[in-house]
Amino acid sequence: MDVENGMQFLSHDAMGKTGNDVIFSWFARYQNAAAAGADAVNGTVGALLEDEGTLAINTVVDAALREAPPVEFAAYAPLRGLPSFLDLAQTLALGETRSPLLELGVCATATATPGGSGALYLAAKNFVNEGESVLLRDRHWGPYAGFLAGCGLETSTYPLLPETEDEAHPHFDAKAFSVALEKLASQQKNVMTWLNDPAHNPTGLSLPAESRYELLNLFMESAAKNEHVGHTLLLDAAYHLYADEPHGWAETIHEALERGLPWPENLLITFAVSLSKSHTIYGLRTGALVSLHPDEAVLERLDDVMGVTGRQTWSAAPRIAQFVLSGLHSTAEGGQAWSHECERLTHLLTERREAFISACQRLDVPVNPSHDGFFAWYECDNPTEVAEACADQHVYLVPLKGGIRIGLCAIPLAKIEQVAQALSRVSQE
Ligand SMILES: Cc1ncc(COP(=O)(O)O)c(C=O)c1O
Repeated sequence: MDVENGMQFLSHDAMGKTGNDVIFSWFARYQNAAAAGADAVNGTVGALLEDEGTLAINTVVDAALREAPPVEFAAYAPLRGLPSFLDLAQTLALGETRSPLLELGVCATATATPGGSGALYLAAKNFVNEGESVLLRDRHWGPYAGFLAGCGLETSTYPLLPETEDEAHPHFDAKAFSVALEKLASQQKNVMTWLNDPAHNPTGLSLPAESRYELLNLFMESAAKNEHVGHTLLLDAAYHLYADEPHGWAETIHEALERGLPWPENLLITFAVSLSKSHTIYGLRTGALVSLHPDEAVLERLDDVMGVTGRQTWSAAPRIAQFVLSGLHSTAEGGQAWSHECERLTHLLTERREAFISACQRLDVPVNPSHDGFFAWYECDNPTEVAEACADQHVYLVPLKGGIRIGLCAIPLAKIEQVAQALSRVSQE
C-alpha cells in the first residue's frame, strides 16, 4: 500500500508531520557500535548521564518523591497549579532577585505546565497571532520550529554570534537582532522573541551581563517606540540552574529598572521554567510559565488566558512533583540538600566542558564558545559528513542545522579527549 495516499483519514496538517528522529537515529548507531564491541563514545543523548553511563539522578528529589502519600500521585492538581508550586516556580525563575524586583513594582505570576515544553506551548498559543513570526537565534532547540508551526506561526532568525567581530558583545549580534526586531515590529500586531539563555541548547553559550542588558534595552526601546505592538521577551530557562549565573536575567531586569528604564505597558517578560533537568524529573512533566509585568490586573487576566489554554490542551499539569518539590524547597534544609546534589551534577558538566575546551584548544579544533549546561557545538557547513567522519572513529555526535551538537551531558570525562581527537582529524581533512 502507498502509505501516504492510503491514509485519507489524516488531516492536511497531520500529513505535514514527519518524524524528528535525527537524535534517536544517531543514538541507535552508537548503541549498535557499542553492542558490536566497539570502544564507542555516546555524545548523542540530551540527558545528563553519570560517567558510568547511567541517568544522573538528584537523589534528594528521588528520596522526597518516594515519601509522598499515594493521594498526591493520584489526584489532579488545580488547573493553574498548586499555589505552593506557583510560588516555587517564581523563585526558581528569579532567585534572590525576586523580592528586590517586587520592591521596584514588578508583579509576577505563574501557571504550572507539563514541563518547559508546556510553557513554550502556552506562549506560542497566546502571545502572537497566527501567521506572525517569532524571532529566534539561527541556532536553536529543534522542537521550537514544531511548537511554533503547530500554532500556525512562522520563524524569523538572527545569527547566534556576530558575523563581524564585536568587542563589546562578542556573543550577541545586537545589530542583527535590532534590525530583525524592527522589521517584525513594523509588520506585526505582536512580536515575541524566544531566547534560551543561560546554557543554550545546542551550544552551551551564556550571554554575559552586558549583552543581556543590551538585548533587554533594545527590546524595551522597541516596545516604547511601537506602543500598539505587543512585545513578549520569553526566556527559556531549561538549563539555567546548571549555569554560573542562574538568575542573571532577573538581575539584568532589576538593573535596568534601577537605572530608570521605563517598563512599557505593552511589554511582557516571561520565563519558560523546566524542572526536567534541574530536578532530574524529565518524565514527570513539570514546569511553569512565570510572567512579569508592573500591572497586577494585567497578570490576573493572563492567569485566565493561561488556565483556559491549559484546560483546553492538557487539562492540569501533573501534581506529584509540584507537591513534593514545593515541600522540599519550603525548608532551608530541603533547599540546601537539593542544591548540594545539583552542585554535584553541575560539577560533572564543568569538568567535562573544561576538559573538552582545553583539548580543543590544544588540538586547534575551532569549537564555539560554550559556558554552561549540557552541550557544546562545532559549527560547520557539512554537519552530516562531519558526524559520519566522527562515527568512523566511533565517536557519535548529532548533526543539526549548521553544526554538530556535542552532548557533554552524556560523555564520560575519560572519553572527552577521544571526542576532541575525532573532531581534530575531521577539521584538518
Ligand atoms: C532548550 C530547551 N527548552 C525547553 C526544553 C523543555 O524541556 P521539558 O519539556 O522536558 O521540561 C528543553 C528540553 O530538552 C530544551 O532543551
